[in-house]
Amino acid sequence: MSYSAQPVPSLKREPVIRRLAATDSIDDLTSLLHRAYAGLAAMGFNYTAVDQSADVTLARIADGLCFVAEMDSTIVGTIMYYPSGTKGGCPWYDRPNIAKIGQFGVEPSCQGTGVGALLLQRAEAEAALAGADEIALDTAEEAHHLVSWYGRCGYRFIEHAQWDGKVYRSVILSKPLHALNAS
Ligand SMILES: CC(C)(COP(=O)(O)OP(=O)(O)OC[C@H]1O[C@@H](n2cnc3c(N)ncnc32)[C@H](O)[C@@H]1OP(=O)(O)O)[C@@H](O)C(=O)NCCC(=O)NCCS
Repeated sequence: MSYSAQPVPSLKREPVIRRLAATDSIDDLTSLLHRAYAGLAAMGFNYTAVDQSADVTLARIADGLCFVAEMDSTIVGTIMYYPSGTKGGCPWYDRPNIAKIGQFGVEPSCQGTGVGALLLQRAEAEAALAGADEIALDTAEEAHHLVSWYGRCGYRFIEHAQWDGKVYRSVILSKPLHALNAS
């Protein structure tokens, strides 16, 4: 099984990828998520990040590591990395040694410029460093642009999930990390 990082479009300016700091504003991060997910909301997908409160943002951060992309002292993207053993809820997520990602969003004006690919790579690198077998995520099965991008990044379909309160069915997608672990 070979690991291949997702292609990163050529960035005009490279963001710094770092851990969320105690001094970063959770309200600002929540607003960024709302802006990032507005397009999905307009498509009819009620992802949690569409309208979650700052308290929900904090609760979703508590179980894992929150990474942010910063450009010109402004946070323009974020991703959550959840180590294996956290964030269960479906058979694949409940397996041992499966890391996960979530709460993944980029400022709309920066989307399509490679910021998301860098954040995804950072979460994958954390998972590989921790010795996870795979890293998994979920998204709406009808969000075809996302399902196909994740496919190009090396994620394959595992199973469906129906989360409480969601109007859409989700797909669980997962990417093996064995080769990265070995390097
Ligand atoms: C999904 C998301 C986090 C990816 O971040 P990003 O910075 O846009 O990602 P990248 O620039 O690295 O590119 C991702 C892919 O999507 C395409 N893409 C995404 N948004 C795009 C946009 N607005 N314009 C053009 N292309 C876009 C890119 O071309 C690229 O595909 P490719 O590498 O095969 O060419 C970001 O688009 C986003 O916040 N979307 C809304 C929220 C969301 O969908 N979150 C994930 C839920 S599972």
